[in-house]
Amino acid sequence: TSKDKDESYEINRQAAMFFFRALREKANPGYTYMKTRGISEDTMNRFGIGYADGEWRSLYDYLLQKGISEDKLLSLGLISKSNDRCFDKFRNRVIFPIMNTAGKVIGFGGRIIGEGEPKYLNSQESDVFQKKNNLYALNLTRKDVSREDAIILVEGYMDAVSLYQAGIRNISASLGTALTENQARLIKRYTKNVILSYDADQAGQNAAFRGLDILYREGCRARVLKVTDGKDPDEFIKKNGRNAFLDLVDHAIPYGDFKLNMVKQRYDMEDEQQRVEFIHEAVRVLQKMNPVEADIYIKKLSAETRISEGAIRFEYTGNTSQDS
Ligand code: CTP
Ligand code: MN
Ligand code: MN
Ligand code: MN
Ligand code: MN
Repeated sequence: TSKDKDESYEINRQAAMFFFRALREKANPGYTYMKTRGISEDTMNRFGIGYADGEWRSLYDYLLQKGISEDKLLSLGLISKSNDRCFDKFRNRVIFPIMNTAGKVIGFGGRIIGEGEPKYLNSQESDVFQKKNNLYALNLTRKDVSREDAIILVEGYMDAVSLYQAGIRNISASLGTALTENQARLIKRYTKNVILSYDADQAGQNAAFRGLDILYREGCRARVLKVTDGKDPDEFIKKNGRNAFLDLVDHAIPYGDFKLNMVKQRYDMEDEQQRVEFIHEAVRVLQKMNPVEADIYIKKLSAETRISEGAIRFEYTGNTSQDS
């Protein structure tokens, strides 16, 4: 019910405040950790970043004493229970509160301080937290996204925080999961122009590939950016700075080129038979685009393969029934 939800938001808000205050205690490991990663106090404040200490029952005792029930805390994933004993779920971690676009705290991500497994812990789903419907930091950045009429989507909390601090504010993070339809629809309230800037590793590139299709189907103009130095946007911008990153944004690869390049990599373009095979497959990609866009790519393909535009166009119009 909406009363239960309001209670959930309120408890999450109190938990966020508790973590936030803890980070300000002197010689705090969470604060020190974020500082060593180049994050300023101002940025920490802006994102409401907090700290969960290493004790078993800090948040638990605090919220229990405020009269909140154990069951409610369990349902929000703030505590865990084993052998009938309850304990804080987030311990020894930097805490990133996750808010919806209305600015209500719906869940948390917690990064281990230093090395350790799992590197990140996230709140479980609850009556106020559905991962597939939300995007990290959009509550802070949606005005920038509208103003720039573009959004840069990254994988991780730290990518979002770093880019924001560097002055690139039209950002959001999809939190390591593949982008969902609902997230694409949420983005579309603010802009149709999406730049996917996922990690350079294979997992990140695969996620970008899947995200592109979802965005395209939802009617967004999607482009992909791959950082050339470092494994993610956070590392890249710390090494190379804001302007270098903006340069990558300018050169982000449009959906169609990205898809066609992926297909092309599987064929030997020196071999005539393989060029023909390539065209067959490329045409199937074009058939999923709008005709105006497809037309541009037909011209490009023709130049690339030295197969006449007319032949490619014939293939394109003649085989629409084969569309998968
Ligand atoms: N993630 C997660 N659980 C994990 C690993 C990752 O939920 N065990 C999510 C987090 O939202 C994380 C994102 O996936 O921010 C990207 O993962 P990864 O690239 O591994 O982490 P980074 O964000 O680069 O973290 P850091 O820079 O702090 O190492
Ligand atoms: Mn990764
Ligand atoms: Mn990873
Ligand atoms: Mn990283
Ligand atoms: Mn990363």
